Amino acid sequence: ETQRLVVDNNVESEKSYTQAVNLLAEGEIVALPTETVYGLGAVATNEAAVKKIYSAKGRPSDNPLIVHIGTKEELSEYVDTISEKAVKCMDAFWPGPLTMIFKAKPNVFAKSVTAGLDTVGIRMPSHPVALKLLQALGMPVAAPSANRSGKPSPTEAIHVEQDLAGKIPLILDGGATGVGVESTVLDLTKEIPVILRPGAITKEMLEEVIGPVDQPTHIEQEQGAPKAPGMKYTHYAPNAPVYLIERNKQIVQEAIQYLQTKDYKVALIAPAFFKELSPDWFFSIGNTQDEMASHLFHALRACDSTDAQIVLATATSTEGVGAAIMNRLEKSAGGKWYTPNNK
Ligand code: TXA
Ligand code: MG
Repeated sequence: ETQRLVVDNNVESEKSYTQAVNLLAEGEIVALPTETVYGLGAVATNEAAVKKIYSAKGRPSDNPLIVHIGTKEELSEYVDTISEKAVKCMDAFWPGPLTMIFKAKPNVFAKSVTAGLDTVGIRMPSHPVALKLLQALGMPVAAPSANRSGKPSPTEAIHVEQDLAGKIPLILDGGATGVGVESTVLDLTKEIPVILRPGAITKEMLEEVIGPVDQPTHIEQEQGAPKAPGMKYTHYAPNAPVYLIERNKQIVQEAIQYLQTKDYKVALIAPAFFKELSPDWFFSIGNTQDEMASHLFHALRACDSTDAQIVLATATSTEGVGAAIMNRLEKSAGGKWYTPNNK
């Protein structure tokens, strides 16, 4: 049985934290909110505990996990060198949605955390529940997103329940997460740092602090430029196929009408101002880039509670957090774009 405990300022939550800390310390796995998405945590030095994450998620074992820490000071216990650029990034963006890849000290983390690499991804989250839990526990916590592998990442406790009920003992429910897309993953082991996964800490923000940063596009990554190990797997996919489509009302309306005459039931994921169109289901993701990031995974998940046979999702600019939005959308669509002749 999976327990879900609400932890916020309106409820007496000390007991819930104690329960979560005890479970983790005993080698169990616990779902917790971060400012990006919900994570599924285990003590990062406990191999048996970390293995439970992979089996609960159905995650391939060659895809390494991110280690979460509760203080900046402890970083030097886990990695040998902290470059000047890393220090600048920590000062500017921690706690927050930035994961940095470091050369790991040998034999600190459980083998499954790094999936056999000599590097490790580390971040200090800013969500008050995650921070409080990490600081109370006093140990690093490995945590991937708390979804079944392949599904959109969870931005609400209910999403974790949908995917992992019965497979984990506890979900700390801190409400909706906020940022809505996973942390930026920055590889600082390269001469020019490389963004392996775009997120809310954008290329523009990083460059202001550390100078030039590479951000290969999704397509460049597919073609063999630097890769985050998990990149090759299907991600963020609802049951129905997703197609990207130009963010143009007339083009979208024509697509909907055409598909409906072919007897397809159509779900549309688009900004709020598309609401007067007539898909079978409409999932608004708000209007600003920040709102879109925050609502995207909820919308992708919501498609699975419909009978939609096809999902159209409008594209957005790749400026700022738009790069993260398009990265997730391209993955959920498997790179497919709607054109009037392909369906
Ligand atoms: O926002 C987040 O980062 C969330 C929350 C829970 O903190 N976590 C998360 O974890 O998204 P996960 O496991 O779903 O994604 C980890 C990403 C993967 O793309 C993985 O390949 C990459 O980080 N990664 C982890 N360790 C790495 C390493 N040593 N080198 C390169 N990429 C690494
Ligand atoms: Mg994930």
